[in-house]
Amino acid sequence: MHLLNSILSLALSELVVVAGHVQPQDANTITSRIPKSANEWATAIAKADAFLAQLNLTEKVVVVTGASGSCIGNVAAIPRLNFSGICMSDGPTSINRQDLITVFPAGLRAAATWDKDLIYQRGYALGAEFRAKGSHVGLGPTAGPLGRNPLGSRNWEGFSTDPYLTGKAMYQTVLGMQDAGIQTSSKHFIGNEQETQRSNSFLEDGTEIMAYSANIDDRTLHELYLWPFADAVRAGTTSVMCSYNRLNQTYACENDGLLNKILKEELGFQGYVVSDWFATHSGVDSINGGLDLTMPGSPTQELIGTGTSYFGKNLTLAVNNGSVTMDRVDDMVRRVMTPYYLLGQDSVKYPTLDPSTLCVLGAHYSQQSCNTPARDVREDHASLVRKIGADGTVLLKNTNNALPLKSPKNIAVFGNDAGDFTDGLTYVDGTEFIQGTLATGGGSGSARFTYIVSPLEAIKARAHQTGARVQYILSNDLIARGDFHSIFPSPDVCIVFIKTYASEGSDRVDFEHDHNSTLVVNNVAKRCPNTVVVSHSGGINTMPWAKNPNVTAILAAHYPGEQSGNSIVDILYGDINPSGKLPYTIPEHADDCNIPITNLTNNTDPNGWQIDFNEGLFIDYRHFDAHNLTPLYEFGHGLSYTTFNLTTLTPTNLTDASALSPTPDATRKVEPGGNPDLYTPLLCLTTTLTNTGSLAGAQVVQLYLSFPQTSTPEGTPRRVLRGFEKMFLEPGTSARMYFELQRRDVSFWDVNAQTWRIPEGEFGVSVGFSLGGVRAKGVFSLL
Ligand SMILES: *[C@@H]1O[C@H](CO)[C@@H](O)[C@H](O)[C@H]1NC(C)=O
Ligand SMILES: *[C@@H]1O[C@H](CO)[C@@H](O)[C@H](O)[C@H]1NC(C)=O
Ligand SMILES: *[C@@H]1O[C@H](CO)[C@@H](O)[C@H](O)[C@H]1NC(C)=O
Ligand SMILES: *[C@@H]1O[C@H](CO)[C@@H](O)[C@H](O)[C@H]1NC(C)=O
Ligand SMILES: *[C@@H]1O[C@H](CO)[C@@H](O)[C@H](O)[C@H]1NC(C)=O
Ligand SMILES: *[C@@H]1O[C@H](CO)[C@@H](O)[C@H](O)[C@H]1NC(C)=O
Ligand SMILES: *[C@@H]1O[C@H](CO)[C@@H](O)[C@H](O)[C@H]1NC(C)=O
Ligand SMILES: *[C@@H]1O[C@H](CO)[C@@H](O)[C@H](O)[C@H]1NC(C)=O
Ligand SMILES: *[C@@H]1O[C@H](CO)[C@@H](O)[C@H](O)[C@H]1NC(C)=O
Ligand SMILES: *[C@@H]1O[C@H](CO)[C@@H](O)[C@H](O)[C@H]1NC(C)=O
Ligand SMILES: *[C@@H]1O[C@H](CO)[C@@H](O)[C@H](O)[C@H]1NC(C)=O
Repeated sequence: MHLLNSILSLALSELVVVAGHVQPQDANTITSRIPKSANEWATAIAKADAFLAQLNLTEKVVVVTGASGSCIGNVAAIPRLNFSGICMSDGPTSINRQDLITVFPAGLRAAATWDKDLIYQRGYALGAEFRAKGSHVGLGPTAGPLGRNPLGSRNWEGFSTDPYLTGKAMYQTVLGMQDAGIQTSSKHFIGNEQETQRSNSFLEDGTEIMAYSANIDDRTLHELYLWPFADAVRAGTTSVMCSYNRLNQTYACENDGLLNKILKEELGFQGYVVSDWFATHSGVDSINGGLDLTMPGSPTQELIGTGTSYFGKNLTLAVNNGSVTMDRVDDMVRRVMTPYYLLGQDSVKYPTLDPSTLCVLGAHYSQQSCNTPARDVREDHASLVRKIGADGTVLLKNTNNALPLKSPKNIAVFGNDAGDFTDGLTYVDGTEFIQGTLATGGGSGSARFTYIVSPLEAIKARAHQTGARVQYILSNDLIARGDFHSIFPSPDVCIVFIKTYASEGSDRVDFEHDHNSTLVVNNVAKRCPNTVVVSHSGGINTMPWAKNPNVTAILAAHYPGEQSGNSIVDILYGDINPSGKLPYTIPEHADDCNIPITNLTNNTDPNGWQIDFNEGLFIDYRHFDAHNLTPLYEFGHGLSYTTFNLTTLTPTNLTDASALSPTPDATRKVEPGGNPDLYTPLLCLTTTLTNTGSLAGAQVVQLYLSFPQTSTPEGTPRRVLRGFEKMFLEPGTSARMYFELQRRDVSFWDVNAQTWRIPEGEFGVSVGFSLGGVRAKGVFSLL
């Protein structure tokens, strides 16, 4: 693979070949980096303890309460101990609000590459930028929302509706960011699947209406929503952010069962739990319920905050009156400080805070002007953005070999998503612009562009090389009215760019793309028999025009970041062979998606917002499978300009399996991620991938499991993703592909036994290039 130079400079001992991926003699050796060892954690804990030993109660309280400062979240300095404090900055896609940063592809786009190495590289580059700004904690990555609600407006910040894919992406992103020296805060834990009433609100008469309660049963929690967090913890995520909503009637940030029992005991999480901003609703209950650090939580926060805190002086009182023990306070401080030492953030070489940090934060909140120049941290990350952009573009449809383009002489570009921004380079305030290409979403996950390469700009530059004409209409109003009089002569190809805005705080209300998109596409297609549609969207859309024969090609490009235009031109012209795959299912009809946003906006019952996750494990493709619904484009789908083949699938037992893991004990302790035995490889499956076409290209081989129906409880999905590997091959060449199934991959969560259990009987297994595109299959049993 093409490693960044900066990554190659890592200690070589950290680069190991992962069994179960690709043999070293094959073309692309996929490397994997290793989480910090138990010894490294122990050393960091010892340093945190030495620090803790020097603090009095007031200072301990300071560490866990947060403070005012330049960043979106701050832990105050203790100058007496040379501790200069901790700065937390919003992610997870780019450094929010900061200037002279790279706008990376969104998580959803990264997931669409299905490329673990690229996802690692994205995490590393992102982490390097946070660090270079002098920040200590990048608030991300996101595994919640997982994407239960197709119209959830933060789904783009996370990765995939599938927990296995999201888990792998969390793992790689945490490793990447932390290898670059920045702390991660895996978020939002847990059940924050919609934005509508995610927090409490107040009626005009002052009645407090509580945030919705996500009511999730034990099995669903473990197999779906918790799964990717387990991977993040296993990768050593330094922090977990508890979410705004309630879980089973109790706020997530004071939920003892969730934070203490599940996260800290069962998953062996050694870092700290930080509240989402203003998600703390109590002092003693939160602290005893597992919350270690409240944010922003400062008694003196000038820019944001209420001026009071459930922690602060209240915590001192609570210790003095015995409702919080000193041991617990020490545990909180230790947890907050350990990651700081683990990642060497106490080093004198750690970058100082970019002096423009406060200034950009202020500019966002109060529009104050500020001329402190920012530190440029972008390096050459644009080339990585371009690569992820191209590799994560999903070719959904390609008839008559419409793509790649064959040097057309007359190209027409349509749509308000094609051109430059017209209303400025930032939309951090959550308002969308109508005119201009959409390259990232809104809210705290948004970012300040320093430039955008728009699709129109890149197409013009590319077309200019061959002297081609580029005509365009960017007004959707004009196109919707059918006013095409300026187009002459008739184009060889029409490329329509459409978009769907999504932003923290308000869920989407429509499955179709924004701004009259359907009329826009249909009107172009009515006149143009070679219409290519490109979608820039933050999630799942319906595509009512997809089967129009004049729509010859469709590309899902999600939120690609600042190199948007270059990435799409790389694909349109075939400089890069598309290899992206859908990380979710595209429905034929909106009605086929089972889970609408719960909207009880007029409800006056303080406890009225209840969201029962009654569908259990049946979200996205699992739901389609259960109801025999045919999607428009299935999970894992994505076309290439070349063809591939797979040979038979051979399973090999690696070890004798027992139904349950040995219980962790003194000799085999719980490790970050949980019982280490859950990650023991039990089975290896091999197949051979061949590029049978005439072009070089990459393919993602996907492995799906069907659990034995008779020995698994009701509510088990028909198929689940349990392996994927991406491989680049020259035409006519082959590579052997290895898939390892770990204990957790072949187990269900046994509610009675309170552990993972391997069912008896025969598993079905298939490999292919999408969920339904089975190329080879087999069966195996482990017990
Ligand atoms: C704790 O130490 C600080 C100095 O850092 C001092 O100002 C404060 O009074 C001390 N508090 C207590 C309770 O001793
Ligand atoms: C703080 O740093 C200074 C300068 O490096 C050093 O002399 C001093 O011993 C340090 N103090 C503590 C408490 O570590
Ligand atoms: C939430 O409630 C359900 C139903 O009672 C239960 O199965 C599950 O274990 C609870 N989860 C937590 C974290 O308390
Ligand atoms: C202590 O907490 C209460 C809410 O329980 C809040 O009203 C009060 O302002 C807090 N005190 C301080 C000093 O922040
Ligand atoms: C102890 O102090 C805390 C913080 O002021 C308060 O919330 C709690 O009710 C007190 N508990 C008792 C038993 O006095
Ligand atoms: C869509 O276009 C039609 C035709 O111009 C227009 O009547 C309608 O108002 C447009 N709708 C929106 C939401 O822009
Ligand atoms: C919820 O309902 C309110 C009021 O009817 C409406 O304004 C809002 O758009 C709805 N939100 C969603 C996500 O449907
Ligand atoms: C396809 O394009 C042709 C013009 O080339 C037009 O006659 C026909 O109606 C179009 N079909 C659709 C479904 O838009
Ligand atoms: C809330 O009430 C308004 C006014 O009656 C109504 O238009 C709206 O649809 C209601 N919203 C929901 C989500 O029920
Ligand atoms: C593809 O693989 C199958 C075996 O899985 C084989 O029968 C078939 O001939 C192969 N096709 C090509 C074009 O190689
Ligand atoms: C794997 O082990 C199971 C249980 O011992 C056995 O039934 C099965 O045949 C083995 N499979 C292979 C491929 O060896």
